[in-house]
Amino acid sequence: MSADPETPRAEYASKKGEVVLRSHEYDGIQEYDQMLPNWWLFIFLGSLAFFVGYWVLYYNFGFFHDDQEVITRKIAQIEEVKAKELDEMLAKLTDDALINQWATDDTVVAAGKEIFLSNCIACHGQDLSAKIDIGNGQSVSLPGLPLTDGVWKYGSKPMDIFKLINEGTPANSTGHNGAKMEAWGQKMPPLQIAQLTAFLIRENPKDFAK
Ligand code: HEC
Repeated sequence: MSADPETPRAEYASKKGEVVLRSHEYDGIQEYDQMLPNWWLFIFLGSLAFFVGYWVLYYNFGFFHDDQEVITRKIAQIEEVKAKELDEMLAKLTDDALINQWATDDTVVAAGKEIFLSNCIACHGQDLSAKIDIGNGQSVSLPGLPLTDGVWKYGSKPMDIFKLINEGTPANSTGHNGAKMEAWGQKMPPLQIAQLTAFLIRENPKDFAK
């Protein structure tokens, strides 16, 4: 192979429409001595320009947000809405209202029962005894506390019960046999917790004097 520079030859050849090869050769492979096609250069240079623009917008102007930021912001918004909902509910809930309005309303109590049956019976039992019958007159204790034994561990006022369901076992308590109750306020709106409370009041008429 002849040595570089071969530019004159390349120019000459390209004018004639011929293909020119670079002089070097490795393992029998040679390179064309040609300009890359315009469409290719356009994409290449375009992506470089895009990169610079994107970089500046992303890092200098904070124009785009990564998924983490978007999710964090959305969660904060949701938390805000939830806190507002809870405040609104707490503003109208009192021990008296729970006993004399909520728990006397059959629709409210029926809604509470439905929520109880689909969320709470695994630990508190369908009959609220925190036990499950396994036949032969034997029963097994479930993780939760019985809810019809007249004992209310964290306060026996309706609002105490609302608070316990909403916030779960208080942070300073070790729970019941080491088992704590989760904060259901994380999973259901305050309305449902009020309905659950009304249902529990209805199930324990002796505990909540009118
Ligand atoms: C995974 C098991 C579990 C589920 C499900 C569960 N609980 Fe509990 N619950 C417990 C445990 C354990 C305690 C005892 C907590 C403690 O002692 O701190 C408890 C305590 C309670 C208490 C206080 C009882 C008392 O005697 O003071 C109430 C009220 C209660 N749960 C209501 C509910 C409601 C309503 C639901 C459904 C939304 C529910 N629980 C679902 C495990 C559960």
